[in-house]
Amino acid sequence: MARSDLLVSLVKAGTCGDSRGFRSAAEAIIAEERAKQHGVLADRLTKAIQVNGTGNIVRANFQTISSSDPHYRGKDFISEVVPRRRLDDLILPLLARQNVLELIEEQQRADLLRAHGLEPRNRILLVGPPGTGKTTLAEAIAEAVSVPLFVVRYEAMIGSYLGETASRLKRVVDYAKTTPCVLFFDEFDAIGKERGDIHETGEIKRVVSTLLMQIDDLPSYAMVAAATNHPELLDRAAWRRFQVRVQLELPTRNDLAKYLENFLIQFRESAGISAATLAKALGHISYADAEQFCLDVRRRQVLAAGERSLKQIVADQLRIWTAKSRAQQPKPKEKEDADATSASTSHTEP
Ligand SMILES: Nc1ncnc2c1ncn2[C@@H]1O[C@H](COP(=O)(O)OP(=O)(O)OP(=O)(O)O)[C@@H](O)[C@H]1O
Ligand SMILES: [Mg+2]
Repeated sequence: MARSDLLVSLVKAGTCGDSRGFRSAAEAIIAEERAKQHGVLADRLTKAIQVNGTGNIVRANFQTISSSDPHYRGKDFISEVVPRRRLDDLILPLLARQNVLELIEEQQRADLLRAHGLEPRNRILLVGPPGTGKTTLAEAIAEAVSVPLFVVRYEAMIGSYLGETASRLKRVVDYAKTTPCVLFFDEFDAIGKERGDIHETGEIKRVVSTLLMQIDDLPSYAMVAAATNHPELLDRAAWRRFQVRVQLELPTRNDLAKYLENFLIQFRESAGISAATLAKALGHISYADAEQFCLDVRRRQVLAAGERSLKQIVADQLRIWTAKSRAQQPKPKEKEDADATSASTSHTEP
């Protein structure tokens, strides 16, 4: 049985001839039924709102679709991930964690908000350098709200014919509307690019316009998360669409020590080095790098099968890592170029 507040909204909207309100209440009911595994009822409701008694489409822009529809292709452009990563797995800046927790609470307690005429926020932008947890955080949000993560597959969605990408994008969003979910646009700058970019053709403008309209049109039970390393490339209007914007950062020395502490604690033997000293020796690395270091240690330890101590393994890996990172450091001329590039790309709102 659908929630009473949704039924009341449906009847109210129907009586007042509010087609938009009617549509979103009906879509929310369908999504709820589908989430409860009541697929047959959800399909029947979908059909019922698509077609009136005479077989005509009630409204040309009615976007709810049925999974039995032969033209139904939105699913082809996403990968559905069952979320496993948890918020507790991540070390986040205080403000970022607080923002994310608020968003999760609004989604988890959406009924209460709706009872007071409020909608939970559902659009989040994740900004930060590589390896700081943007993708993992999108998954962790889906995990916390207990909904699937739909990752948009650009390689499948971006077509070569005029208008093809925009229409596929619309189908992706239509699909996301059929169930509570997190629709995830990773490397969002690839699609939400500044429309003023002189190198782009009209096609990218069309895609961005479609994207913005679609994002606006998403009901609040369907969340949209977008991640980018390059916020300065984002269209200003795209930027404004996101009610929650979270800035992730490379770990501070203390954060890195905390991460390594959590890793070292799982061993029965001593690593012969404190987490703080190890963090200092590894230098300014991302969490993704730190994870790779830890995995390297684990692999060596398993393969050593007790023949070598953890202390020796960590010391060896540290030597390899520091040599590797020294080799990767830009030479004086390259460094000047790199400094000039990073100075011209600030991470502030456009
Ligand atoms: N803040 C963090 N706390 C703990 N672990 C982290 C954090 N950020 C990243 N990691 C670890 O690093 C790995 C890579 O992270 P992730 O792919 O989420 O980063 P990203 O910001 O999406 O990077 P990219 O910009 O390259 O896509 C993950 O497996 C995760 O376990
Ligand atoms: Mg990522």
